[in-house]
Amino acid sequence: MQVVRDAAALAAAVSSWRATGERVAVVPTMGYLHEGHLALVARARELAPRVIATIFVNPTQFAPHEDLGRYPRDEAGDIAKLEAAGCDLLFAPSVEVMYPPGFATRIAMGGPAEGLEGTHRPQMFSGVALVCSRLFGLTRADVAVFGEKDWQQVMVVRRAVEDLALPIAIETVPTVRAADGLALSSRNAYLDPEARAKAVAMHAALLHAAERLKAGATAAEACGEAEAQLRAAGFRQVDYVALRRAADFAETERLDGPGRLLGAAWLGQVRLIDNLPVG
Ligand code: PAJ
Repeated sequence: MQVVRDAAALAAAVSSWRATGERVAVVPTMGYLHEGHLALVARARELAPRVIATIFVNPTQFAPHEDLGRYPRDEAGDIAKLEAAGCDLLFAPSVEVMYPPGFATRIAMGGPAEGLEGTHRPQMFSGVALVCSRLFGLTRADVAVFGEKDWQQVMVVRRAVEDLALPIAIETVPTVRAADGLALSSRNAYLDPEARAKAVAMHAALLHAAERLKAGATAAEACGEAEAQLRAAGFRQVDYVALRRAADFAETERLDGPGRLLGAAWLGQVRLIDNLPVG
């Protein structure tokens, strides 16, 4: 696997592939890779003969008070995992390569970027749309693979790709979970054993809400019960548990077709998010 850190070396590798007609898939990440990320790489390998993974802890999607500085990193471990997963190239740029001097473009995302994560982390999705757009341009990939773990992020990236007419397809992979149901996340590394044991309540609360919705409960009832379960399990703050329509991310009071249940809550200083398809 090639490890490339600058735009020129990336362009050279991609040009050599494209010259022989090979399709290219890209898997954008912030590193500290786990089985969820590697499932995206496996899907990418099914979609294209050439697979690029990117590792970049993107400052434009973190607020000043968030965990940018202490975001977990292990590049050597990540390289070994990507190599074993059959990735062709790792693009691991510096901040200066991604945002060189004079960089002046911003994206103000509306639509699916509003509400839920967008309420609690206001600048995040504009930063995600910006970094993904630039990664799509630099890699000239035909397809990008994202995880349903960050379902709102998928909605945002699809919207940006359509609005900006970016020549790339977006594919998704279902959330990869630990044996007890906790969605794998790089941020799980922050959980001490006691918090790790409580964390499973997020998945359990969403499953409970899904059952209640299927039994005819309103979104307010089902999500309210899930929030109470989270607090009872030791989550100190629940940012939201919410039902959205799968097709257009619209709010809905009842299950009236394919939907998505989404939750975000704090265990101590660690913020966990998760979601489930429902209906
Ligand atoms: P990161 O949190 O590293 O996630 C990279 C990709 O892995 C995302 O598409 C995410 O949804 C997916 N992923 C994470 N955990 C997963 C799991 N348990 N199962 C399946 N997929 C999972 O998301 C980001 O980075 C950044 O916002 C990024 C898109 C790279 C832009 O900076």
